[in-house]
Amino acid sequence: MAAAASTANPNALTTPVNKTAHEFDKAILDATLTRRFFFTPAFEIYGASLLANILDAWRKHYIIEEDMLELDTTIMTMSEVLKTSGHVDKFADWMVKDTKTGEIFRADHIVEAVIEARLKGDKEARGVAEEVKEETEADKKKKKKKVKSVAVKLEDSVVAEYESLLAQIDNYTGPQLGEIIRKHNIVNPLTGNEFTEPVEFNLMFESNIGPTGHIKGYLRPETAQGHFVNFAKLLEFNNGRVPFASAQIGKSFRNEIAPRQGLLRVREFTMAEIEHYVDPLDKKHTRFNEVKDVKLMLLPKDVQMDGRTDLRQMTVGDAVAQGIVDNETLGYFLARTQLFLTKIGIDPTRLRCRQHMANEMAHYAADCWDFEIQSSYGWIECVGCADRSAYDLTVHSVRTKQPLRVQQTLDQPRTVEKLEVVTDPKAFGIKFKKDATSIRETLTGMDKERLQCVKDELEKNQSSIVKCADGRSHEITSDLVKINAVTVTEHIREFTPNVIEPSFGIGRILYSLLEHSYWAREQDKARVVLSLPPLVAPIKCLIVTISQDPELRALIHEISRKLRKLGVASRVDDSGASIGKKYARNDELGTPFGCTVDFASIKNGTLTLRERDSTAQLIGPIDDVIATVDELVKGSITWEDASSRLQSYSGVQDVE
Ligand code: ATP
Ligand code: GLY
Repeated sequence: MAAAASTANPNALTTPVNKTAHEFDKAILDATLTRRFFFTPAFEIYGASLLANILDAWRKHYIIEEDMLELDTTIMTMSEVLKTSGHVDKFADWMVKDTKTGEIFRADHIVEAVIEARLKGDKEARGVAEEVKEETEADKKKKKKKVKSVAVKLEDSVVAEYESLLAQIDNYTGPQLGEIIRKHNIVNPLTGNEFTEPVEFNLMFESNIGPTGHIKGYLRPETAQGHFVNFAKLLEFNNGRVPFASAQIGKSFRNEIAPRQGLLRVREFTMAEIEHYVDPLDKKHTRFNEVKDVKLMLLPKDVQMDGRTDLRQMTVGDAVAQGIVDNETLGYFLARTQLFLTKIGIDPTRLRCRQHMANEMAHYAADCWDFEIQSSYGWIECVGCADRSAYDLTVHSVRTKQPLRVQQTLDQPRTVEKLEVVTDPKAFGIKFKKDATSIRETLTGMDKERLQCVKDELEKNQSSIVKCADGRSHEITSDLVKINAVTVTEHIREFTPNVIEPSFGIGRILYSLLEHSYWAREQDKARVVLSLPPLVAPIKCLIVTISQDPELRALIHEISRKLRKLGVASRVDDSGASIGKKYARNDELGTPFGCTVDFASIKNGTLTLRERDSTAQLIGPIDDVIATVDELVKGSITWEDASSRLQSYSGVQDVE
């Protein structure tokens, strides 16, 4: 794969059309998306083709290009798995309640909304608010649900404090959010009532498996656990070696506290996740060189902790060399994700990579970068790239007593200092009875540092406490357990792989893409155009005729057949509407190309070809135009290439 040195959209069809003329109008976009069935008001995705095309592009970009193992694991997950992974205890958000009405809010979201509204009110009072455009009905409805701003000037120091607070909003714990609510007198903006202290709310949907109802289960909150519990088989399939990756596309479920952001926050959503298993001592990536020049807009954690949100543009090569991104493998996936998102049409200028601060990191993560996409909802996390270290494989291995480890034959045998656990089996058994095996396994499964601590404690206090996988602790004593330093020659190195995980929320990407693709023609603001790249556009080519003449109608169906045979999704519009209307209808569906059949097609065997964004037209022999459309859709040529193959068309033809 060629390295992209710039973040320019590689999929732009033509020299960019001036799309800056229009103002973003969410009401018009929403009305168009609903009318043309991209999704319904209940926010279930209706335009399944767009979703399918994004997933198809994802599959090719990652699974095929990177030779990953694709999985399809169960959605209903045994509670044991999610207890072991930590989700039962820790997969929670903080919520607050209106003390009088009982209305529930996600604590960080309501703090953010109130503080943002206060800052907006301050701007209004200072006369620096953005120009107010005429309000549509949809705007009014949206505002009712939003926190209203009131023009009140704030002290400069308060503005600075608020801005710093917003920069760190994702990093606060529940008790800290409670303090902020009290300190800044944050109340329910709709009722003026106070909030309760934040309490944790687990986001998983619980269920019972089987007729007795005794086996507890959960709808999976991520697909990742399905990969980890199958790791032994995956490793075997990969001949016992790392690195390799597994990938899975499927539904995940989260009982969101307040799903008030349309497609961006739903309780059932499609995830596409990659788990890349790597040697913890060697996180280099063999293909890093191919992507080292890809530019990213980075928002590192120290900048946010400083209360700022300014972005640093740098190549992924520099980011890894300077230690901003921890390792090549993480950097490789950040670059590949930037390339994927821009390839499907996300605007690179509205894309940033934000590093998680310490408190916001998921319980399993050692480092995490989110790809956030800017839309009318603000900067929204759409892809999370986490270094999950050895967390998941270790906890599942301890729980199931199955070694989820890689054995690597060493080129040269090596001598290592080790700690060896020696117990007196009889005395140990008498003392700990049925727990003896589990205590012994916990000791032998400890890493060297932890075992050294136990050894030190035994030597100092003649006893130490050992916590087993079932959560129970036991006191061991120096008369029953000895930990000896020994020197051994090793021919095999054994290690638990680390996991680098890019996790995609497809619905969020799809919605952001629709906003980024939307614009309107200067001459008619109501004529929406969706500049979807051919790669993901649901229909690639529109085929129309200028008249209802039976000969022309027969010809468009023949062209459609030929395009379908090439695998190009096309659509015939043989209605009586004007050509302009037909084009407009397809511009708002995002159809990138249009072929028009006219009387010259019969007489001269020609076909015209229109490009959606520029409305430029070309003409050529029918089969040449069909072949050109095929190549344009596959992305093997650009519109400029097509323009050098076919003649430009002004609209006048000899049909005498
Ligand atoms: P947020 O803080 O916005 O709730 P999150 O940090 O919980 O998101 P992750 O746990 O990192 O999100 O989930 C991985 C990806 O899954 C996200 O990048 C996002 O694209 C998607 N995702 C998570 N929750 C939802 C949801 N409720 N609806 C749609 N997509 C979601
Ligand atoms: N698997 C990543 C997440 O759920 O956040």
